[in-house]
Amino acid sequence: MKKILFINGPNLNLLGEREKGIYGSSTLEDINMLVCREAEKLDILVEFMQSNHEGDIIDKIHEARGRYHAIVINPGAFTHYSIAIRDAIKAVELPVIEVHLSNIYAREEFRSKSVIAPVCIGQISGFGVDSYVLALYAAAGL
Ligand code: DQA
Repeated sequence: MKKILFINGPNLNLLGEREKGIYGSSTLEDINMLVCREAEKLDILVEFMQSNHEGDIIDKIHEARGRYHAIVINPGAFTHYSIAIRDAIKAVELPVIEVHLSNIYAREEFRSKSVIAPVCIGQISGFGVDSYVLALYAAAGL
């Protein structure tokens, strides 16, 4: 059975309360439940982690080697500057899909640069909670 790890970075634990106009009113728990329901239909096993700490995210990416078939990651603000997360993704040689709730290209200039995207299979940005479901389907099709 295919296993996919969903990683959420800093401040995403505050979804549902945080900048609702941009990120919507769903909590991270709501999103994870939605993904779980879709994953059942696809016969895929999904696991979730969220951390506000770069090192924890890097450790989790390392641990994913041999345990998961793919990773879906919303690196939050780390998207824009974490060379360490980028290097971890490159190092583990697992297929990784980058997701964002908001369209990072339609916001502040500094958000339009992802240092993570070049080491990912692809990026899904701007579809709110559906970004995660689309990423699941993309990972299922790999
Ligand atoms: C985000 C976009 C990032 O720029 C921001 O720092 C986030 C959330 C998104 O899902 O739209 O924390 O990754």
